Amino acid sequence: MKRITFSVSLLLFVIISNAQIQQSLSYYANKCQSLKIGAAVGSNFYTVYDNGDVYNQTIQNNFNILVAENEMKFDAMEPQKGVFNFAKADKLVAYAQKYGMQVRGHTLCWHSQLPSWLTNGTFTRSSLQAVLKNHITTIVTRYKGKVQQWDVVNEPFNDSGGTLRASIWQQVIGNDYIDSAFVWAHCADPDAELYLNDYSTEMYGGTKANAMYNHVKSMKDRKIPVTGVGFQCHFTVNTIDFGKLDQNIKRYASAGLDVIITELDIRIAVADYNADRTKWLAYQAEDYRRMIRSCLDNPNCKTFVTWGFTDKYSWIPNFTNNVSGYALIFDNSYIPKPAYTSILNELATESVKTKVETVVENPEIKLEFSPNKVLVETDRLINQCQLFNVKGEKVFSSPVTNNFIEIPVNNLQRGIYILNIRLENGLMIFRKFIINN
Ligand code: XIL
Repeated sequence: MKRITFSVSLLLFVIISNAQIQQSLSYYANKCQSLKIGAAVGSNFYTVYDNGDVYNQTIQNNFNILVAENEMKFDAMEPQKGVFNFAKADKLVAYAQKYGMQVRGHTLCWHSQLPSWLTNGTFTRSSLQAVLKNHITTIVTRYKGKVQQWDVVNEPFNDSGGTLRASIWQQVIGNDYIDSAFVWAHCADPDAELYLNDYSTEMYGGTKANAMYNHVKSMKDRKIPVTGVGFQCHFTVNTIDFGKLDQNIKRYASAGLDVIITELDIRIAVADYNADRTKWLAYQAEDYRRMIRSCLDNPNCKTFVTWGFTDKYSWIPNFTNNVSGYALIFDNSYIPKPAYTSILNELATESVKTKVETVVENPEIKLEFSPNKVLVETDRLINQCQLFNVKGEKVFSSPVTNNFIEIPVNNLQRGIYILNIRLENGLMIFRKFIINN
């Protein structure tokens, strides 16, 4: 008598995924529950968006969200009081729209890159509130429905002490400038996601990390319209505490808040790179892999953005006085680095896993086994039923318009078989049998 055992086939999905020829970050990210993967881009490095060069091609192939590295900051957007310069931001938004990419707006309120009329001006609480309200309202209204996420307030915390940074906003308006900024942004575009963004707030337990959490949690409790926080993630290779990062992302989830990775780069000391670049690029690739994994493992982390994408234009060498660099996922010549491949592989793995989970948890199919036949039953109409042997040869095929079908198995040789059921709703279900004589 034949004994038939049954299990879900992972194998088939691996085969299917290998057949996919197109390989890019956004291709797989789109299959991972619409994960947004993106980069900061800068018009300093090329004058015309969409000119088809390698810079633009790399963007279009790999990303589904963009952020302006400098062009949407206060000094760029409002160079004189009440006079706005939208030209570069408009180009970026149009470019993103043309290629189906979203845009993150960075940033509406920050202590840095401010115009001199603001830093040298004299303001009262109410006159500076009017300036900030007008700035936020004008910009968010202009890009309503086109910029999906805003870094409403950037870097509001001091590096130590858990207190708010003494920016012009905090000094002249007071601590409530943050609440106000979020409310004004929300009024201008109620559908936009609104974030508070900072650095050194990534790891659970640090003073600055706790200050950010407590502040944003309090905003949420007081019904201030905040979607979550941005972790900048300007990291150094081999120093990231992934356990604490995960713990921190999870505490925001418990509070109903999202966490996004907004400015990731992972720098390598130039001396290390020169001594053994293969080794350090491998460490960096592993860090990037674990970063994307941290996001994929947490449903409240739906956006993953690197600060630039090619080492050619990374801000890190300049920022670190050329002590470190090589922080991004493409090299100076736009060749994908090991870090790129590790993210790509992790996304590809996740996209397969997503499919398998759908199948494993699918409640719509029931199988009954007897010595001579397999009875397939569903609560929906079956469209097509096929059985393949391990060589991929079809051994049974039948169109069906019923919610059950009997597959005769008495003439089948001992071996592994894969059953493929297509339901009327288009859902494909795969199962693996082992038939033992
Ligand atoms: C940096 C840009 O990359 C540089 O080109 C610019 O000279 C200075 O600002 N945190 C932020 C970003 O929020 O806006 C900063 O971007 C990097 C640190």
